[in-house]
Amino acid sequence: MEKNKSILLSAIQPTGCLTIGNYLGALSQWNKVQKEYNSIYCIADLHSVTVQHNNKDLRKNIFDTLALYLACGVDPKKSIIFVQSHVYEHTQLNWILNCYSYFGELTRMTQFKSKLIDGRKNINIGLLNYPVLMASDILLYQTNHVLVGIDQKQHVELVINIANRFNNFYKSKIFTIPAILLSQQGSKIMSLLEPTKKMSKSNINKKNTIFLLEEINSIRKKIKMAVTDSEEPARIYYNFEKKPGISNLLTIFSCFTGKTIAELENEFSKNSYLEFKEALSDALSTVICRLQRSYFEYREDESYLTRIIVNGASQAREYAKKTLETVYYVLGLR
Ligand code: TRP
Repeated sequence: MEKNKSILLSAIQPTGCLTIGNYLGALSQWNKVQKEYNSIYCIADLHSVTVQHNNKDLRKNIFDTLALYLACGVDPKKSIIFVQSHVYEHTQLNWILNCYSYFGELTRMTQFKSKLIDGRKNINIGLLNYPVLMASDILLYQTNHVLVGIDQKQHVELVINIANRFNNFYKSKIFTIPAILLSQQGSKIMSLLEPTKKMSKSNINKKNTIFLLEEINSIRKKIKMAVTDSEEPARIYYNFEKKPGISNLLTIFSCFTGKTIAELENEFSKNSYLEFKEALSDALSTVICRLQRSYFEYREDESYLTRIIVNGASQAREYAKKTLETVYYVLGLR
């Protein structure tokens, strides 16, 4: 890591298939920010254990996620890429931080509350503890900036509280207090058929979601079927209240091409919804095809991927170990 650069950390859970929302909100920015920061990218596999899963799928998903990181331009020579469960310090610090986190503040997390309300069966303690494990991920590396989407903002705010509480308790700056870097893009990508709900990888109806590794023809079909509206005559402009479907498609178009919404409204002022959707499909295909080609190249070479994981874990551990040793010392455990 370079001395004059601050440390940035981000992570994705290797759960299920990543969507264009994950791409825009996280992955597409990682390549850019790794020039400016000492970047650390984690594959948060222990977080994935909070939901019931199948071991074969998880094993495969870890490799898939890593290959996607690489396809998006994350460079193991510039950044540290590692798998969370390979660096044991994460669970060790997690235990300590549990003792500095309050039951009340964890049960107040909206993500946890929404899982309770959903009436889901397997409400395990891991789901409650989840943000404290995030705290270990972040604090072990003396992270200056955490790059997350809006849905994780509350969790990182809790991490900041835990870190301040710990530092104040021991009257010393054991943990760097991280700042939140919110990625604006991606968090605004809505479902294709229900454009007032967020596009999510866990949506049961797969027609709502565009996956990064999906066949291009299937993506085209989904876009064709995406909900629009019945305004007469059909007009393409952004108004989320009145036209959530078209507004969502405009957002996706803009995120994938870098054109502003105003530019797109202008460009398509005389077009039908169908023509607009075809142009959007073309724009998406260009980016996604390139990404998929690169992804499949990396994904084929499991021995290369394994080397990255092994090497990344040993780089990460060097930093994690130092922080954990300091924590053990101040607690009187050493
Ligand atoms: N919980 C995050 C998510 O589901 C992933 C994550 C795990 C994370 N550890 C992190 C994000 C640390 C930022 C920092 O999106």
